[in-house]
Amino acid sequence: FALKEFNTFGISAFAKAYTSITTLQQLEEALSYFYRDSVFLLGGGSNMLLLNDIERPVLHINLKGIELLKQDNEKVFIKVMGGENWHNLVMHCINNNWAGLENMALIPGNVGTAPIQNIGAYGVELKDCFDSCTVMDIKTREVKTINLDDSKFGYRDSIFKNEALGKYVITSVIFRLTDVSQPNNYKLKTSYGAIQDELSNLQLKPSIQAVAQAVINIRSSKLPDPKLIGNSGSFFKNPIIKKSYYDDLIRMHPTVPHYPVDENHVKVPAGWLIDQCGFKGKRRGDAGVHDRQALVLVNHGNASGQEIITLAKEIQSMVFNRYGITIETEVNLIQN
Ligand code: EPU
Repeated sequence: FALKEFNTFGISAFAKAYTSITTLQQLEEALSYFYRDSVFLLGGGSNMLLLNDIERPVLHINLKGIELLKQDNEKVFIKVMGGENWHNLVMHCINNNWAGLENMALIPGNVGTAPIQNIGAYGVELKDCFDSCTVMDIKTREVKTINLDDSKFGYRDSIFKNEALGKYVITSVIFRLTDVSQPNNYKLKTSYGAIQDELSNLQLKPSIQAVAQAVINIRSSKLPDPKLIGNSGSFFKNPIIKKSYYDDLIRMHPTVPHYPVDENHVKVPAGWLIDQCGFKGKRRGDAGVHDRQALVLVNHGNASGQEIITLAKEIQSMVFNRYGITIETEVNLIQN
């Protein structure tokens, strides 16, 4: 079964077995049949790099549905099935005047995989609107609810990348949003400079619709559209380093940008480090670095997963040699 169409990097790889899952019953049946083999769960395929063919049975989570659970004055709770496309959900919320997700417009991928890395953009992370999610245990098929505290969300991190790695299928997510069609206390998140600039360019009155439009414009101008050129968004995470190390670093490299994390740590944009190392727009065969955002690696056509990872390693070692900073991959590297 060809996986090229099912990963946004557009890597040509094959799976021995593939099943599309559209109901919870199918999921339970597939898990009871396959669980001993350990399964490969496929969502939107937007945050992974296939390094080889997939030997494990692939379960493609295509569970669909968006349900309004309850409205409590201005608070709205919706339950969204894991196979819904993330951006479609954001637009659905905006059309219903439900606020909370607008800064995360146009993030590729599906709802069920969004909590795994606590997706985020322009000052908002999934955790800010997350109420809970329902999961099915891969081994026991037991259904459980995992709430906000149990999810242990951090920067591009959660329990699903750590203690619970490979343990569950996230079947649905409950979001806590704000109804802005009536008087409310909702504050738009426009602190990110690029959003403010774009809102004033657009000359739009601040609203969730305007913020989403600003985000769509910014992302479309900087980030490659996976339909046109294969990619998985940011390939690396922005490294978090000790403040004391940063203070040493700026003596040698006075222009290194940073964002505060806590008293003792700062985050440094990996895109900036990679750009400074001269990689922006560079190619090694069909593996390349995007020409408008150095944090994004791209597939110009027929790159293999191995070619992309070879380029990634070259970048990591150059950044380390120059700045003494290790940059970790953000995308999941899939071996087989
Ligand atoms: N920069 C450069 N050169 C580059 C890229 C960036 O100098 O080629 C500099 C920019 O000028 C800016 C800084 O690096 O000073 C940060 O860049 P940007 O605002 O574009 O954000 P980012 O840190 O590169 C992060 C997320 C994105 C998210 C944006 C906006 C990570 C790993 N990435 O990127 O998320 O959209 O902030 O919030 O945290 C994703 O995860 O796939 C993703 C696209």
